Parts: sequence; structure tokens; C-alpha cells
Amino acid sequence: MAGKDFRIAPSILSADFARLGEEVRGVIAAGADLIHFDVMDNHYVPNLTVGPLVCEAIRPFATVPIDVHLMVKPVDRIVPDFAKAGARIISFHPEASEHIDRTLSLIRDEGCKAGLVFNPATPLFYLDHVMDKVDLILIMSVNPGFGGQSFIASALDKIAAARRRIDASGRDIWLEVDGGIKADNIGKAAAAGADTFVAGSAIFGEKDRVGAIRRMREALKRATIGA
Ligand code: DX5
Ligand code: ZN
Repeated sequence: MAGKDFRIAPSILSADFARLGEEVRGVIAAGADLIHFDVMDNHYVPNLTVGPLVCEAIRPFATVPIDVHLMVKPVDRIVPDFAKAGARIISFHPEASEHIDRTLSLIRDEGCKAGLVFNPATPLFYLDHVMDKVDLILIMSVNPGFGGQSFIASALDKIAAARRRIDASGRDIWLEVDGGIKADNIGKAAAAGADTFVAGSAIFGEKDRVGAIRRMREALKRATIGA
């Protein structure tokens, strides 16, 4: 099981947007493995954030991969723009695409890793026929749209179910969790099978980002030793 190779992905949603480049540089220096980039369209989700232009703007600061989480509908039109703007991973919600298989292929054709995102009430059966086209599965532990929400505990069973699917496939698919992740619950998400952890408010909401990421890594270490 690919459990030891943990990745921490600070979500810039909780960063200071007036100083975004410095914020990105700061969390990478503090130990971030990915930069999670939340794209909201005020249509698929009730909030509006940033697009390819801002992705391109942070690109020189992002010495780790940019992990773009699309909360937009439709999906396909905007995928090439993000690939050109420096995205390395592009994930989308199956409900937001009319042709999921086509969107997954489009993302890979653009040279990125392709991810499928599952809202709390979205069943995993969307994976049934596309495991060979997915590089990342993202389990939402909040309903998408806002940072700073509380972790929905039923996500743990869903992470475990996704882990079983990944292990059964024998493929190298990352299992990411997003929403309400803190140092005090990250261990449970890891024990359930997640290997990649998005955290917005728990990192950017802290002045001491080094300490925030260190506490998460310590919790992950305890979870693997204790497991
Ligand atoms: C929610 C976003 C998350 C969010 C996480 O719709 O997809 O990435 O920024 O923020 P926290 O960690 O504060 O829940
Ligand atoms: Zn996200």
C-alpha cells in the first residue's frame, strides 16, 4: 500500500491574495509538496475564485506541482488553459462533466495528471470504468465552495472504500482528501488510506506555517506507527 509517501497540499484559498506569490513561496519553504489551487465559478459552486491568469502568475513561485481543483461547469473548455498556465494535476467533479471519460483523456492529452473529485454525497461508482484513466482520486470531506468548514466524518469510510479500489486496481493512483483537514484529524484520514492531504485554513490561517506543516507530519508519523 502506498501509505508512506504522504503529500501535504496547502490550499491557496486561505492565503493572502494580495501577496500570493510570497504566500506560495512561503509554504513551499515550510515543506509543502503541492500547491492546491481551488477554482470556483459561482455556478457549479456558490463562490468565485481564480482562473488560469492567476495560475500563470504564481507559476514562477511554485517549485512544486500545482494541483488544480476545478469546481466549474462545464469543465472541458477551461482544461487546456490551465495546462498552459502551469497546472500539473487537474481534477474535476463528475457531475460537472457530460462526458467523464472524454474529460479525463483531455487532461492527460494536455500533459497533466487527471483527477476525479467526489463530493460527500457522490458515489464512487463513477470510477467503475475509468480506473485506467485516473491518476488521482479526491475525496471531499466538506461540500465544496468555501474554506474553513468542518470535516465530515463519513468521508473516512469513503476514503477506505476508494483505497480498496486503488489497491484492487494495482495502479499508482494518489488518494487525496480535501476539507477541514487539521493536525488532529489528518492521522485518521491517513489510517483510512489517504496519501495526499489538502489543508487551507489549517496552514494559511496560522502565522507559523513551518509549525503547522510540522504538526501535520508528526500526526502522520504517529498514525503510521500506531496503525
Ligand atoms: C473547498 C476547497 C478546499 C478548501 C479547503 O471547496 O476545495 O480546498 O480550500 O479549506 P480548509 O482546509 O480550510 O477546509
Ligand atoms: Zn480543493
